[in-house]
Amino acid sequence: MRMKFPNDFLIGAATAAYQVEGAVKEDGKGVSNWDVFSRIEGKTLNNTNGDIAVDFYHHYREDIALMAEMGLESYRFSIAWTRIYPDGTGRVNQKGIEFYNAVIDECLNYGIVPFVTLYHWDLPQALEENGGWTNRNTAEAFVKFAETCFDCFGDRVKHWITFNESVYFLRFGYITGAHPPGHRNDQEGFFKAIHNMHYAHAAAVIAYKKRRQYGEIGFSHGFAPNFPLNDCESNQGAALHANMFETYIYLDPVMKGSYPEYVLDSLRDRSLLPEIKEEDLKLFSEASRLVDFIGLNYYHPNAVRNAKGSEIQIDYSREASAGKTRQFYFDGMYEIVKPEGREYTKWGWEVSPESLLEGIRILQDRYGDQIKLYITENGLGDVDDVQGERIQDTPRIDFIRRHLIAVKQGIREGMNIKGYFAWSFIDLLSWLNGFEKQYGFVYVDHNDNLKRSKKQSYYWYQHVIATRGEQLEEE
Ligand code: BG6
Repeated sequence: MRMKFPNDFLIGAATAAYQVEGAVKEDGKGVSNWDVFSRIEGKTLNNTNGDIAVDFYHHYREDIALMAEMGLESYRFSIAWTRIYPDGTGRVNQKGIEFYNAVIDECLNYGIVPFVTLYHWDLPQALEENGGWTNRNTAEAFVKFAETCFDCFGDRVKHWITFNESVYFLRFGYITGAHPPGHRNDQEGFFKAIHNMHYAHAAAVIAYKKRRQYGEIGFSHGFAPNFPLNDCESNQGAALHANMFETYIYLDPVMKGSYPEYVLDSLRDRSLLPEIKEEDLKLFSEASRLVDFIGLNYYHPNAVRNAKGSEIQIDYSREASAGKTRQFYFDGMYEIVKPEGREYTKWGWEVSPESLLEGIRILQDRYGDQIKLYITENGLGDVDDVQGERIQDTPRIDFIRRHLIAVKQGIREGMNIKGYFAWSFIDLLSWLNGFEKQYGFVYVDHNDNLKRSKKQSYYWYQHVIATRGEQLEEE
């Protein structure tokens, strides 16, 4: 049976400030932790950094015109905290406000709905140097930054995301060391940072709702649901444990206002429980009644098996080589495996649209059938064939098509999914993989003045939007 996406379902695409904007020293922008970290030899592929990225700062009109021509309904982008507060707190930089006003207005001129992420990993360096997310002052500064954004842009922006993928920026920042501040196995810092991030999220949600701007606000989770490798009981336990520490520790405080008991017990046993004040929990609980949606950034599921008894090992290798390594996570209780016979991307990420639905069912069991969801990221990181006239990124089309069909299936089953954002609108800077890993509908030629070219997928997505996905199954 043919079905279009419902009228209130947004078909969009996403990017993040550090990955596209460039212009890191222009118009009063302050220094971010990524500006500093990417300069440390060997931290990123070929030592790439965001100094130029794809120069969205100067190309935003051209890029938004390309979005409009494509028919894009919504553009998810993030605000660089350091453009608004160069030092993280204190003085506001008017030029930064002007830039995002211009981006928002440009979107609205074309009828593109701005969907704004407040924190997509680029922390002001001034705050990083004072302990970053392990310091409660960072959370307080975030709330101030969020309030400034609501006050300046909230008349036109009606969709807000507080945090993008805390699961990754905190794990990479404090456990594997692959992201700033680059700590390895700093478990104490890690759990403290998680708690402060939750405090910042909750306080920002409450501050937003107090303003009565009649928009919505949510939290985007890096959702890699863990499934047991097989039916064996110990592997099922391992998968549950992994979901506790990779998903529920992030979503329970947001959705229920409390941490999972299992996590609390386990941290207490390991003397890793951070200080959790009664008033923080009250705040979480109030915010959980106000939060509007969960954003899921879904790329792949994980197959896990029990690794209890094995020594605690941490794989410090960068994500770039994830496909070739087995990863033991911070507590040594489970390991992620790559069973043969499944489909993987060039970076070793399992391709499984059905696991997105399976994952959502697990979330529905925990948070209720009607939780409002957006797929805030999904896409294929690939090395495109850029020879010839048109860039034939057929694998990307196939990947997104299959995931969109799954989303439709979910809606048919009654899942409350309100939008889909392909990652990414344009080829951008991958945090660790430089420009080698492409996700975009639009190619950027770094040898020809950052010239933009539409890929095959650009035209394909344009058609999907025009037909509201009705013909996906036949394409
Ligand atoms: C998500 C992030 O984790 O995955 C994006 O929110 C990121 O910012 C995307 O670019 C893809 O990651 P990678 O490592 O494949 O470039």
